[in-house]
Amino acid sequence: MNSPPPEHRPVLVEQVVTLLAPQPGEVILDGTIGLGGHALALLPLIMPGGRYIGLDRDETMLAAARARIASQFPSGVDLVQGNFAELPRWLAELGVRQVDRMLLDLGVNSAQLDDPLRGFSFEQDGPLDMRFDRNQARKAVDLVNGLSESELADLFYFNAQEGLSRKIARRICQVRHGGRISSTLALARVVESVYGALEAGGKTHAATRVFQALRIAVNAELDSLREFLRVALDYLRPGGRLAIISFHSLEDGLVKEAFRAGRAAGRLIEVTRRPVIADPAERGANPRSRSAKMRVAERTDS
Ligand SMILES: C[S@@+](CC[C@H](N)C(=O)[O-])C[C@H]1O[C@@H](n2cnc3c(N)ncnc32)[C@H](O)[C@@H]1O
Repeated sequence: MNSPPPEHRPVLVEQVVTLLAPQPGEVILDGTIGLGGHALALLPLIMPGGRYIGLDRDETMLAAARARIASQFPSGVDLVQGNFAELPRWLAELGVRQVDRMLLDLGVNSAQLDDPLRGFSFEQDGPLDMRFDRNQARKAVDLVNGLSESELADLFYFNAQEGLSRKIARRICQVRHGGRISSTLALARVVESVYGALEAGGKTHAATRVFQALRIAVNAELDSLREFLRVALDYLRPGGRLAIISFHSLEDGLVKEAFRAGRAAGRLIEVTRRPVIADPAERGANPRSRSAKMRVAERTDS
């Protein structure tokens, strides 16, 4: 297994620190600890005396985060393999009723993308896996070879607004007649063959949206976010803050709608009027930051 590159750069890190504004001794819930980049920026502000709870579905990321954090912060940090959708369960297991700050930095990170064995990317060949949690049974290969043509087309269209969703689904079904499509490059080639005669769609590789749509489906990412948004405020102390960084419009739409409903119900205020985006320097240095949008809310009810 490849070890994650230490140079992984967290996005919007200064804005996270400023807008979450954690205070000494507070409790932070980081629902997507990843390689611990945001954690390492936030921990000095709450320690000593604070508590940092980090979740990740991916045990490889947790191990990497643990290795990076433990030497500097030997106590007050709990790292748990779990889905942020099950926030109530993890907090109960840790004996925590409410936290002061929450952070979600959604999606996939560079260490996962760069490891061909994880199957998230078509840059190198690998198995069509795409699971964050490798204890989970369902992999991308099961969807690609098991769903019907119309189910595949809907998946590509609804999860990634793929314009050629029907044509790609039809081609996948034709190709898999001759044998399973089981590697990332094999799938990328099928998608490229549909786009071949047409425009490849500007700067984005033809297979980008198909891979994104499959990853979202394999990991039920939108369901996890919906469930988190349904319960999160109950576990945030009044006056506490919640920041969510999303990378595509479906996720940001869910956050925007949940914050709107919370505001209408008198439960929260939004800390910034518009979503926070990366400045030109960060966009230049870190391509992943270009699609990042962060929304921050403060709980106002009691
Ligand atoms: C963009 S990375 C987070 C990077 C992190 N903020 C850092 O600074 O290193 C997203 C992480 O969230 C994890 N993840 C995705 N969905 C999750 C979920 N529903 N519950 C817990 N972790 C999740 C992924 O495994 C990945 O490691």
